[in-house]
Amino acid sequence: MLRTHTCGELRINNVNQDIVLCGWVQRVRDKGSVLWVDLRDRYGLTQLIFEEGVADAELMQRAAKLGREFVIKASGQVVERISKNDKISTGDIEIRVKSLEVLNPSKVPPFTIDDNTDGGDDLRMRYRYLDLRRNPVRKNLQLRHKMMQETRTYLDRQEFIEVETPVLIKSTPEGARDFVVPSRMNEGEFYALPQSPQTFKQLLMVSGFDRYFQIVKCFRDEDLRADRQPEFTQIDCEMTFVEREDILTTFEGMVRHLFKTVKGIEIRDIDRMSYDDAMQLYGSDKPDTRFGMQFVELNALAQGKGFNVFDSSELVVGLCAEGCATYSRKQLDALTEFVKKPQIGAKGLVYVKCNDDGSYKSSVDKFYSQENLAAWAEAFNAKRGDLLLVMSGEADHTRKALSELRLHMGSELDFRKPDDYKALWVLDFPLLEWDEDTQRFHAMHHPFTSPIPADLDKLESDPGKVKANAYDMVINGVEVGGGSIRIHDRAVQQRMFTQLGFSEDEAKRQFGFLMDAFEYGAPPHGGIAFGFDRLCSLFGGSESIRDFIAFPKNNSGRDVMIDSPSPIDQVQLNELGIKLK
Ligand code: AMO
Repeated sequence: MLRTHTCGELRINNVNQDIVLCGWVQRVRDKGSVLWVDLRDRYGLTQLIFEEGVADAELMQRAAKLGREFVIKASGQVVERISKNDKISTGDIEIRVKSLEVLNPSKVPPFTIDDNTDGGDDLRMRYRYLDLRRNPVRKNLQLRHKMMQETRTYLDRQEFIEVETPVLIKSTPEGARDFVVPSRMNEGEFYALPQSPQTFKQLLMVSGFDRYFQIVKCFRDEDLRADRQPEFTQIDCEMTFVEREDILTTFEGMVRHLFKTVKGIEIRDIDRMSYDDAMQLYGSDKPDTRFGMQFVELNALAQGKGFNVFDSSELVVGLCAEGCATYSRKQLDALTEFVKKPQIGAKGLVYVKCNDDGSYKSSVDKFYSQENLAAWAEAFNAKRGDLLLVMSGEADHTRKALSELRLHMGSELDFRKPDDYKALWVLDFPLLEWDEDTQRFHAMHHPFTSPIPADLDKLESDPGKVKANAYDMVINGVEVGGGSIRIHDRAVQQRMFTQLGFSEDEAKRQFGFLMDAFEYGAPPHGGIAFGFDRLCSLFGGSESIRDFIAFPKNNSGRDVMIDSPSPIDQVQLNELGIKLK
């Protein structure tokens, strides 16, 4: 080892020891006769001191030439500091340096390597290896490491076996576009990178592995957002001879284990809610249940009173913002502006203030009497001092818009604290979803999800009404995982493909291997996959999963550090038989 200790290790009881440290120069403070250097590594910071009279002139001169991010090796003695620094763990001591070696100098870094850096996003991504030297970014990756270890510990204890599945595969339909890789040896043919190992994990169940998991990279060519990357990591799991309840219990256990071991938190009860209730009460299939503000439908109370906007709407629905009756005109206008933003797309917002004196003031006073508004307030269970916010229009669209307003109000009222965690299972999703563009049904989860047994006979007669034996785990409004009990019967799988518009031949061509496997003793099975990056960002209290990925892509899917994607040589193209337009 080039060093005897790390930069985070030395304490008062090491005083008088001769030690050797290696690290990066964080900061040099040169007072002429005394010079201090903060030396940094992954473990912390240690202060080096060079004093005129104690250090010889040559050493003083060499120390004075050190620059930020130089890599050095310093040998010397641990001494007690005169002025201690209780902000760092090594703050009681410093190193009186006797010899100094520059292992490698550094150019001036393009941004300050500090907790609060001056570097913009793009610059930090271009020099990600420097960004990764910063404490907050490094800590995120250490959290990720710990999460990975604890995931493996839990699943290993539960008898799950980690099996690697291939990366060069054939398309799996998870709803996004595939990334494809041309095959040199099979000109004109392509592999697809897995959107998930879905079909392989099911085949492992047919093979009798009983319990499988894999912490695995998945690839999806879809529009990127803060919680989406084109390559991301799943904790992918599958179990045999189980029903839904077994999966929910097993993975509640995993989530509890992670919270306990990584954050020292016992999470509150994990509630369960049907998809229909989630949509009706929160306008979202991934509601943030850290706070209430459930939707109340007002059609019966608000229609037929001459207010044409409500009368002509499919749905009139609102929420009650506790204690917000004091909102000013300006604040209410800001809320209206918020819901009218193109991303939300509402036409307007009606408010009712439940005044402290028991009267009501609304933006639709012309149409509604005090008694009418009192009935609304009662429907919301509103108290004096509360504010009702009501929207109307086409049902799905209105619920979605009100859901955005609910989250916005939740943030304004500080109900969405990042260190408060609330997990929820959303159950009984529809199996199929009608797509207007293609005029056909799509699998809401994926085509291998089983309908709930009671709905199986509706698959042909009323496909839109069939519920799936599927579940999502939602934490603080983030979909962190999803899975289902699978179809394990060839005939049912064929019926499902038929509903999805696959001809028998097409289904055979794409998924013949799985259908065939179902004929060789396929056991009942089910599973789930967690978005590992999302879990990490939730645990780390951040909205962006990029902060928890060592080398992420930007919003255009580019890695600006290695400059990828990039064109390839003509020779390579020729070999692959690819002609560019
Ligand atoms: P699903 O498509 O729901 O299910 O994905 C599982 C979880 O993966 C995370 N996730 C993502 N995270 C980051 N970036 C992305 N682009 C991205 N896409 C998805 C989400 C999601 O809940 N094979 C099934 C699982 C199963 O049925 O067992 C599947 O992949 O947190």
